[in-house]
Amino acid sequence: MPKSLRNVLCIVGARPNYMKVAPIHAALAASGSFRPVLIHTGQHYDTEMNDAFFRELGLPAPDLNLEVGSGSHAVQTAEVMRRFEPIVDQTANPVVLVVGDVNSTLACALVAVKKSIPVLHVEAGLRSGDRTMPEEINRILTDQMSDMLFTTERSALDNLIREGIAAARVHFVGNVMIDSLRANLPRAVPPTQTLAVHGFAQPPAFAVATLHRPANVDDPDILRRLLESLHAIGQSLPVILPLHPRTKGRVQAAGLDHFLDGCAILPLRPASYLTMLGLMAQARLVLTDSGGIQEETTALGVPCLTLRDNTERPVTISEGTNTLVGRDPDAILTAARNILETGGKRGRIPEFWDGRASDRIVATMIQAL
Ligand code: UD1
Repeated sequence: MPKSLRNVLCIVGARPNYMKVAPIHAALAASGSFRPVLIHTGQHYDTEMNDAFFRELGLPAPDLNLEVGSGSHAVQTAEVMRRFEPIVDQTANPVVLVVGDVNSTLACALVAVKKSIPVLHVEAGLRSGDRTMPEEINRILTDQMSDMLFTTERSALDNLIREGIAAARVHFVGNVMIDSLRANLPRAVPPTQTLAVHGFAQPPAFAVATLHRPANVDDPDILRRLLESLHAIGQSLPVILPLHPRTKGRVQAAGLDHFLDGCAILPLRPASYLTMLGLMAQARLVLTDSGGIQEETTALGVPCLTLRDNTERPVTISEGTNTLVGRDPDAILTAARNILETGGKRGRIPEFWDGRASDRIVATMIQAL
């Protein structure tokens, strides 16, 4: 009798999960050793946060959508757990594969570990050292519960060992997000097309910015200072700003819409994956509080200013094109001017950010499971 294939429950919940799971799902399906089962928790549900990404990444429709929607952290996490548990119970021979650091990652890992089902965490060991970030709590707890921890950069192993995790459980495989980037870059949407859809002509040069972290957008004063900074940069070259739903809501609530004037700042609806790749690849400069964009700009060789005081992805600074600037308007403007004058950091591509990380994950799984 051939051994029955293990069902790998691949969890996606929020936008940054899709580009990580897409190449892993494809590699699992091609392996002949595993059956990938795609579970969407429904943490993100807007078409612009969701459907377009699936289409562009070639991800099949989820086998199941738990439709949890938005809520407080406690409610959202608890709802995912409540709805995921029966799925695990009904699945023969399961393992649970989670990626990144969103609430769905933590919730599904917690359900599985209590049932002694193997938990695999992709993008393990990243630490900002900032426990006020919900993602940092999700990272620490998910890693503690995981049987196999796949890391994107070497510093992650030191973080995990410091937290008492056995090195034998940790596998340095590289960055699956860069697997997606390399596979999809040739299909990126040209910025002219993106801007035309929003009624803007393409300027000769532009910057791209994204903002969505609660620490940056929930306090009206901090949000105003950040928008003022982008607006000031926009006097030199327009800043394209795709707006996350949270950010859009906060800008409106704080009465800051006037900054989105269509001249210095060009506001867009949330950008799809291929749209964002196209914008980043041609930007002179990217300003962001996203984790993934710090990595993508490093892979693209485009200078990035991170509008935070810390990063969980230090290799993007030590080897890549990233610089931490925080939220101080003077620091942001000085750093931006420096990049516009000098071209900024060129960086190099970190080890194993070569488009083969998913293959390494599946090869490791075949050996271990
Ligand atoms: C989540 C992740 C964050 C990730 C981000 C990417 C956690 C703790 N945070 O944050 O790590 O970087 O996704 O986008 O898991 N909303 C919509 N439509 C949607 C989803 C959300 O309008 O499809 C609105 C919600 O109503 C809420 C806000 O956006 O007002 C926040 O959404 P939520 O999923 O709670 O967290 P994110 O801020 O997106």
